[in-house]
Amino acid sequence: MHSLTGGRGLLYGGDYNPEQWPEEVWQEDVELMKAAGVNLVTVGVFSWARIEPEPGARDFGWLDRVLDLLAGAGIAADLATPTASPPPWMGHRWPETLPVDESGHRLWYGARNQFCASSPVYRERALALVTDLADRYAGHPALAMWHVGNEYGQFCHCDDAAAAFRAWLRERYGDLDALNEAWGTTFWSQRYSEWDEIITPRRAPYIINPSQQLDYRRFGSDELLAHFRAERDVLRARTPDIPITTNFMGFFKPVDYWSWAPEEDVVSNDYYPDPADPQAAVRAALTHDLMRGLAGGRPWMLMEQATTGVNWRPHNLPKPPGQMRLESLQAVARGSDGSCYFQWRASRFGAERFHAAMVPHAGPDTRLHAEVRAHGADLRRLASVAGTPVESRVALVHDWPSWWALEERGRPSDRIDPVERLLEHYRPLWERGVSVDVVPPSADLSGYALVLVPNLYLISDRDAASLTAYVRGGGVLMVGPFSGVVDPRAHVRTGRFPAPLREVLGASGEEWRPAGGPITCRWAGGAEFAAHTWTELVRAEGAETVASFASGEPAVLRHAYGEGTAWYLATLPEPGALAELTDRLLADAGVTGALPELPPGVEAVRRGPVLFLLNHGGDTVRVPVPAPSEDLLTGSAPDGHVILAPRDVVALRSTHLGD
Ligand code: GAL
Repeated sequence: MHSLTGGRGLLYGGDYNPEQWPEEVWQEDVELMKAAGVNLVTVGVFSWARIEPEPGARDFGWLDRVLDLLAGAGIAADLATPTASPPPWMGHRWPETLPVDESGHRLWYGARNQFCASSPVYRERALALVTDLADRYAGHPALAMWHVGNEYGQFCHCDDAAAAFRAWLRERYGDLDALNEAWGTTFWSQRYSEWDEIITPRRAPYIINPSQQLDYRRFGSDELLAHFRAERDVLRARTPDIPITTNFMGFFKPVDYWSWAPEEDVVSNDYYPDPADPQAAVRAALTHDLMRGLAGGRPWMLMEQATTGVNWRPHNLPKPPGQMRLESLQAVARGSDGSCYFQWRASRFGAERFHAAMVPHAGPDTRLHAEVRAHGADLRRLASVAGTPVESRVALVHDWPSWWALEERGRPSDRIDPVERLLEHYRPLWERGVSVDVVPPSADLSGYALVLVPNLYLISDRDAASLTAYVRGGGVLMVGPFSGVVDPRAHVRTGRFPAPLREVLGASGEEWRPAGGPITCRWAGGAEFAAHTWTELVRAEGAETVASFASGEPAVLRHAYGEGTAWYLATLPEPGALAELTDRLLADAGVTGALPELPPGVEAVRRGPVLFLLNHGGDTVRVPVPAPSEDLLTGSAPDGHVILAPRDVVALRSTHLGD
C-alpha cells in the first residue's frame, strides 16, 4: 500500500471506463479529475472485447492514449486484467467456456461474468491477454497497481468444473475410501466406487449430501483463487514492484477471503451500504474491520462505493448530501488508505446507466459533483493518516467454512445467520467506541483481551485447542450457541456439546431447542430479559450460571478457567441484554472505548494519532473530547468538546506536547 500512498496521500478516484466515450470526453475527464483531486483510477475492467476484438487480435492503441493522458496529468492507473467479461466470440466459438448452473443450464453472454474458471480454453485465452497487457504496460509511468479480474465469486457445474472438482478431491483425500468416509456416503446409498461418478452438487431430487456441498464450496473458492493466482503470477513476473489486488465484496459467502487475502499485495473492497438499512453504519463498520483483518492489520483500500443511489436494488434510495463524505471517511477511519467509487462518469448506455457516478449525467455543474470535489479536498487534508494503524484489543471470529457448513439444508433452524450474529455482538461495541479486529479462528489471539465467537458451528480440533489455550493464558472468551457442533467434514461431534470446548466453557449441553416464540431469561439475582430464536438444554460443569431461562436452566454461563474467563450463551439475547452482557465482558477484559461518553449514533474510532468522530444519527450532538486537539478537516481547535450535526465528521489530532 505504501508504494501507492507514498507521495500521493490517501487515494481518491474510481472506475474509469473511457471506452464508453469518444476521445474528446477523455480530455475533459482528466481536467475534472485533477480539479477534484483524483489521484487513482481503475482502468479497463471490462475492456476485453475492445482490446481483443477477435480471437488473437490486439488493439492497445486506445489504452495507450488513455494511460498516457493519465500519466501526463499525474493520475495513477490501477490497471485491470479485463478477464471478468470475455467477448461474445469466446462463448460463440467455445461454448464450453460458458458457466453452467446447478440445473445444468448454460448461462450465455450478453451480461458479464460468463466464464467457467475451470475451462482450459478460458484460462489459456485469459492468460495470453494478461501476458500481452503486462508486457505492454510494464514500466508505463501511469501504472501503479494491477486489478485482477473483478469481484470473483461465481461457480460452475459444467464437465470441466466436475473434472477439476475431482482433481481437487483426489488431492484432499488421496483415495476413494477416504472420500467416502469424509462424505459419510453410507447414508442414503451414496457410496462412490469410481472417481468418475463424482460430480459437482448439481440439482438433485432432495437434500444433497452436506459434506459434498461443503467440499464443493471449498473447491469453488480455491478454483477461482487458482485462476487469480495464475493471472497474478504473470503480472508479478513482469512487474515485480507493482502491487496487485482484486476487489472483494465484504461478507461475501462464496469466497473464503481468509485464504485469498495473503495472495495479494493490497486488500481492496467494494461496499455499497443500503441507504434504507437502519443498521447500515454498523454493518459498514464491521465490514471495514473485516477488511483490516484480511489485510493483517495493515491498511486496505475501499475500491468501490457509490456517490449516491445504485441501480441494482429494486428501489434505490439516494444518499442525502453529506452521506457520501460520511461513509467514505468512516472507511478511512477504519483503516482504508483510499476512497474510490464505481464509477467516474455515469454511463449513457448499458445495464448500469442509472447507477450513480462521480460525474453524473447532468455533468459537473451539479450538487453531487461539487460534493465530489469537496471530498477530494477532505482527503488531501487527511493525507497524514495514510499508513497508520487501528489498534484493537477485541477480536471477533469469523470463518467461511463454518458459515458454509451452517447454512446447509437439514439443520435445526435456518434462523442462525452467522453474519447477523456477528453484527448483533458488534453493535454494542461500536456504540461504545470499542475497536474490534475481525479475525479467522486460526488467528494468534494472544494480543487480545477479549475474543468473541458469536457462532462457530464448524470447528477444527486445532482451533478449539487454540481458544482453550487463549483462556488458560488469561484471555476472556465468549462463545455463542450452536458452536463447536461439527468437525471440518461437517460430521456432528458426538458427546455432550460443544464437545471440543466443554472443558474451557465448564458447561455442556444435550439438546438444541429452537424457540417457537419470545424467550424469557433472568440475570442471576437481577432483572428479566428477552432472548430470541434459540435455546439449548445445558448444565454447568464448573461454570457459574449468570442468567437462566424461566425453567431455571442455565442460559448464560461464565467459567473461570486457567488465568482467564470463558462465557457461553445458550440463547440469543435481545439487543438490550446483549449490551449489558457486553459491558460485563468488557469489564472482565479491562477494555474501554475511545471516549467515555458517546451520544447515540456517534461512531468513535482511533486511527494512529487521530480520533475520528462520525455522527450517523439524526440529531446535532455535543461530544466531550480531549483537549488540546486540532480537527484535521477544518483546522479548528475544539475546546473540550465538539458539536456534530447529522453526518458531520471530525478528525482530531492531539496537539498535546509529547503526543
Ligand atoms: C460492482 C462491480 C462494478 C459495478 C458496481 C455497481 O459489483 O464491480 O463493476 O457493477 O458493482 O454497483
